[in-house]
Amino acid sequence: MSSTQSHPAQTGRLAGKVALIIGAGTGIGEAAARIFAREGAHVALADIQFDAVQSVAASVCPDGTKAKAFAVDVTNDDSVRQLADDVMSIFGGLHCLFNTAGGSLPQDSLVTDVPLEVWDKTMNLDLRGTLLGCRYAIPKIIASGGGSVVNMSSGAALRGSGKAHVYAAAKGAIVTITRNLAGAYAQQGVRANAICCGRINTQRIRDTYGIPGQPGKSEDAMKVDETIKTYPYWFGEPEDVANIALFLASDESRMITGVSVPADGGRSAY
Ligand SMILES: NC(=O)c1ccc[n+]([C@@H]2O[C@H](COP(=O)([O-])OP(=O)(O)OC[C@H]3O[C@@H](n4cnc5c(N)ncnc54)[C@H](O)[C@@H]3O)[C@@H](O)[C@H]2O)c1
Repeated sequence: MSSTQSHPAQTGRLAGKVALIIGAGTGIGEAAARIFAREGAHVALADIQFDAVQSVAASVCPDGTKAKAFAVDVTNDDSVRQLADDVMSIFGGLHCLFNTAGGSLPQDSLVTDVPLEVWDKTMNLDLRGTLLGCRYAIPKIIASGGGSVVNMSSGAALRGSGKAHVYAAAKGAIVTITRNLAGAYAQQGVRANAICCGRINTQRIRDTYGIPGQPGKSEDAMKVDETIKTYPYWFGEPEDVANIALFLASDESRMITGVSVPADGGRSAY
C-alpha cells in the first residue's frame, strides 16, 4: 500500500490544515465537518450541543486523532476565547475558521412588530457569535502563518423583501464585517468571505419552515413550493453549502477575499 493510501488525510484540498467549525453539531456545520475531514483537515468541531458535536467528531474520526469536539457558547466571550486557546494547544495551529452557528427565530417579523427579545437573541447568536469567533480565531490564524475565515450570512442579507427584519439585519452586518475583516487582515495572510445561501434542508428548517411538498410549522412554510417554481436552485442540501465553505477555506480560492457568495439559486439576481 502506498503512503497516500495508508494516510488518506495527508492528501485532499485541506491537507495539512487545522479547521475550526463553530456550529458543527448539526446541519451545515455537521456536513462541513465531514467534508473538511474527508479533504484532509484536522477538524476542531465546536457547538453548544456537546453530545451532538461529540458524536459528529466520533463518526468523522473514531480514534480522535484528527477530529475533536469542543463545547462552546458563541454568545459568551470567555467561552469563545477558551475555545480558540484550546484548539491551538491541542492541534498546534489554526488555518481555517467556519463560523456557522446561527439561525432565525420563527417569531422574527417586521421592524414595527418584532418582539425585542427576538432582537437580543438573534443579534447575540448570529452577529455577536460571528464576531467573537473572528475576534479569537483570527489572531491564532495569523500566528499559524495565515488562512481563511468563512462566515455564514444568508440570502436574507441580499434582498429587501424578507419579513424577518432582525435576522436580515444580523446577516447583513455579517456581510459588512466580513468585508472589513478582509481589508484589515490581508497583510497578515488572512482572507475572509461569507456565504449567503437560500433555503437549506436541515432539521431546524424542516421543523420550522418545511421543505418542498411538506410544510413546516411557520407561515413561511407555505411559500417554499411557490418560491422554487421561480428559483429552482434556491433549495439545497447542507453539503451544497459545505462544498462552498470548503472552496473558500482552501487555497483554491486564494484570490478571493471580502466577498459574500450568493448561493441563493439566483434569488438575489432576478
Ligand atoms: N438552513 C438554512 O436554510 C439557512 C439559510 C441561510 C443561512 N443559514 C445560516 O447557516 C447557519 C447554519 O444553519 P443550519 O440550518 O445548519 O442550522 P442548525 O440549527 O442545523 O445548526 C446550527 C448549529 O449551531 C449550534 N448553535 C446554536 N446556538 C449556539 C451557540 N450559542 N453556541 C454554539 N453553537 C450554537 C446549534 O446547536 C447547531 O448545531 C446559520 O448561521 C444560519 O443562519 C441557514
